[in-house]
Formats: sequence, structure tokens, C-alpha cells
Amino acid sequence: MKILGIETSCDETAVAIYSQDPHSGAGKVIAEQVASQIKTHARYGGVVPEVASREHLKLLPPMLDTVMQSAALDWQQLDVIAVTAGPGLMGALLVGVSYARALGESTGIPVIPVHHMEGHLLAPGINGELPEFPFITLLVSGGHTLLVKVEAIGKYRIIGQTLDDAAGECFDKSARLLGLPYPGGPEIARLALQGNRDRFRLPRPMLNKGGLNFSFSGLKTAVMYKVRELGEPNQQDRCDMAAAIEAAICDVLVTQAIRACVEEDAPRLVIGGGVASNEWFRATLLQMASSKGIALFMPDPRYCTDNAAMIAHAAFHTMHSNLTMPVDWDVRARWPL
Ligand code: KG4
Ligand code: ZN
Repeated sequence: MKILGIETSCDETAVAIYSQDPHSGAGKVIAEQVASQIKTHARYGGVVPEVASREHLKLLPPMLDTVMQSAALDWQQLDVIAVTAGPGLMGALLVGVSYARALGESTGIPVIPVHHMEGHLLAPGINGELPEFPFITLLVSGGHTLLVKVEAIGKYRIIGQTLDDAAGECFDKSARLLGLPYPGGPEIARLALQGNRDRFRLPRPMLNKGGLNFSFSGLKTAVMYKVRELGEPNQQDRCDMAAAIEAAICDVLVTQAIRACVEEDAPRLVIGGGVASNEWFRATLLQMASSKGIALFMPDPRYCTDNAAMIAHAAFHTMHSNLTMPVDWDVRARWPL
């Protein structure tokens, strides 16, 4: 079985083909491309929805051709087209979905809508194994911070979430306060390498409150006050602040994720979303998980940020789980998991 995946929910245009080996039953990515629009949006300090839609429109057709060529496939050899139908930017999603539907109409290949967060949630299975059910997933992206208990494919229970900003948003907003470009997460990570994590002490919101929720807006405000105190921060101040921000956000994420595994008696943890590509986060989490006997499943960093392999891969699992596919569906900018 060969699945074409299309992802255009935000500022990455991505296409991939995921194939199931008829002998072993295992799946693998046979061709993929991701085009980031970061440079286009950086000058505006964030993603401009209309610009994102236009970029997808321009990039998607040639990328599809390239991926089909590098997989050496023609349309008749594809079994399914999987496309991100939400959540995300309405205009951006519409480009991918309209294109997928037009392809489906002209080739007769069925089109399956995929939830973007389900793509992230199952991503460790793209080139590895998915853990045994149930497991806990921590999804940390620009718009989401969710702790999900995964009972089976398609059976997801949200057990914790942010009450205000998402973790990625906190990275992005803090970076902006430090005068760093968008997206802030990778910039903070880069500066933090030269920073002293102990010079500035930032709060770890929600950790003393119990429960599995998150809150990052107070942390962002604390960053704002520290930056104000510094007046004109020099390069070392910026690096030390970046290290403190990274440490604070990661501490909160790691503590809550481990707590979720313990409380839910599910010692298997998956991470996903752009923030899950952060090296400090991965190293801290690995250390903490192994000390608590929790098995950690981390997708390759390139499958943490937005990509189409995760969309094709998620469709592969839903199709193999005998779930009923929706007949009537549409793009959903907001779509609960
Ligand atoms: O999942 P993603 O690629 O797109 C969304 O669906 O939102 O996540 C993007 C978010 C941004 O907030 C970005 O700053 C953050 O992930 N991010 C990082 C890193 N790489 C991306 N945050 C911290 N460290 C990183 N290395
Ligand atoms: Zn994402």
C-alpha cells in the first residue's frame, strides 16, 4: 500500500509517500520533501496567514511532482491520498485539501482527512516502533501543549493542557522580547548553548499546584521584567536569559510529562511537535525518564517539526485500525483531538 501525504496547515509545505512493505507489513517513507517558509515570514515576526496560503499554492505542485519522480511512481500506483484537514490556518489548510481533492477526483484515488496533532502524536512510528498501548504523549508545538493518554489508535484522552500560551509560543514570545527573530525556539536553543543556566532564575509555573495542566504566560511576563531590568542586554545577557528560558520551559514540560506517566500508570512516553526537537529538552527528559523506569519514544527531530510523512503515517494506522473513515468532511481550523 502506498499513501501520499500532504501537509499545509501552517508555514511548512510538505509532501511524502509512505509505503507498506507487503512482506514484513512494516511501513517506511520512500520519498519526502519539506519546504519551510520561515525566511518569508521572519521579516514580519510571525506567520502571516495570507502569505502562507500563497506560498503553499506556489510550492505544492512542483513538490508533488518531485516526490512522485523520486519515488518512481505514477498516480495509478498510489492507494490513498492523506491530507491535513485541521487544525491550522484556514487558508493554508484549504490549499492542501483542495489540491488533494482535485487529485482524488482526477485519479479516482480516495482522499483521507488527517488531524495534524494525530500526525505528531504517532510520529515515533514513522521510522521506529510505536509503544504498547496505553501510552502518554506530550504534544508541544507553536499552538498546542497537550498531554494525551493514547488507549488505541483513534482513542485519545486529553489529561492535561495549557491554560494560556503554548510552550512553543512561550519560546517565540520570549525570543521576541530578547530581540531574536521568528521562530524563537531554535534561536533560544542556539544562544542557550553559550549561556549560564543559573544566572537568572525564572518561575516554573504549575509545578507546585498538582494536576497535569500547564501555564506559560506568567513565565513570559517574568522574562519581560528581567529584560526590562537589564535595560540594553548585551550578547552574554541574551545567552544567559536564553539558557534560563529554555531550562524553565523544559523543566515544566519534563516534570508534567513524567507525572502523567506515573499518575496514569502508563510508563511509556511519546513526545511530538516542534518543541520536541529541542536538544536540551530531549536530553533532560531522557535522563529523567530513565531514572523513573519510563520508556521514552522520541521521533527523529525532523519528524517533530511539521512534515508530511507523519500525515501519511497516521493515515496508514487509522486505515489499519478498522476505524470508519468519514465520508462527509471539511477543513477545520479548530478541531479537538
Ligand atoms: O509543530 P511545529 O513545527 O508547528 C506547529 O504545528 O506549531 O512547532 C513550531 C514551534 C515554534 O513555536 C518553534 O519555536 C518551536 O516549535 N520550536 C522549538 C525548536 N524548534 C521549533 N522550540 C524549542 N527548541 C527548538 N529547537
Ligand atoms: Zn505541528
